[in-house]
Amino acid sequence: IPDIDGAKVEAHLDELARIATANGGNRAHGKPGYKASLDYVKGKLDAAGYTTRIQQFTSGGATGYNLVADLPGRGDPAKVVMLGAHLDSVAAGAGIDDNGSGSAGILEVALAYATSGAQGDKAIRFGWWGAEESGLVGSKAYVASLSAAERAKVTGYLNFDMIGSPNAGYFVYNDDSRGTAIAAALKAGFAAENIATENVDVQGRSDHASFKAAGIPTGGTATLSLASAMSAAQAAKWGGTAGQPFDSCYHQACDGRTNINATALDRHTDVAAYAAWTLTGVTATAAP
Ligand code: PHE
Ligand code: ZN
Ligand code: CA
Ligand code: ZN
Ligand code: ZN
Repeated sequence: IPDIDGAKVEAHLDELARIATANGGNRAHGKPGYKASLDYVKGKLDAAGYTTRIQQFTSGGATGYNLVADLPGRGDPAKVVMLGAHLDSVAAGAGIDDNGSGSAGILEVALAYATSGAQGDKAIRFGWWGAEESGLVGSKAYVASLSAAERAKVTGYLNFDMIGSPNAGYFVYNDDSRGTAIAAALKAGFAAENIATENVDVQGRSDHASFKAAGIPTGGTATLSLASAMSAAQAAKWGGTAGQPFDSCYHQACDGRTNINATALDRHTDVAAYAAWTLTGVTATAAP
């Protein structure tokens, strides 16, 4: 299982921040910075050998876009492990922690998976969702678009929303009783890096809820919980500042390129890779 290069994840964030700056300061649903973000991610995936598809939907009178990527020739296409992240920001800012972080992290996992030649018994698929901030609209549209047969092929969905918060925690979702194997894989990944985790119930407030509602097992990680601040016990084990929010720039203009804890982003991305490799059943692989 590769150690994902955090500098490469950060390079994707550089590009998302540049896109926001060039497009009125955000990457929000219905705004040009969203589509430019999608085109950036799609270009990287296409160059790496992914089969990509843009799915359009309408929300609030504007066209939205999801991006779905499959890697041909790896694993049984009837057993699909899926990783996803929302790519839209709120209108107030560039959305670099929320959710450039998850978007960039799974992009680099996807590129590393392709480069490594990883071969498991299951296939891998990645999704970047539009209009999460409008109510999980893109991921709901994706799940609704699947036939019952296509839905049954998705053995699990792993969500990454805010994995680079400046005052970072190491949280694993535990809000899906079908997702215990996914949570176990994510926790094993953190354990491999000697990082203590806490369970978090994110109360369906991100795109995994769309999959969970369709009966697909889900899980995920995040650098924040829904608590207003990091506790003293959390600061003692993770570093960081007790009594301060995990991300004091959440949904604000200051969620820009500097609003990232690079160490936390790298660790959460490494864990996403650990789960991608293990859940697709890759037993041996060359380092990418
Ligand atoms: N989905 C929320 C948002 O985009 C934040 C969130 C992240 C909630 C992770 C739960 C878990 O604003
Ligand atoms: Zn690492
Ligand atoms: Ca790493
Ligand atoms: Zn948000
Ligand atoms: Zn989010």
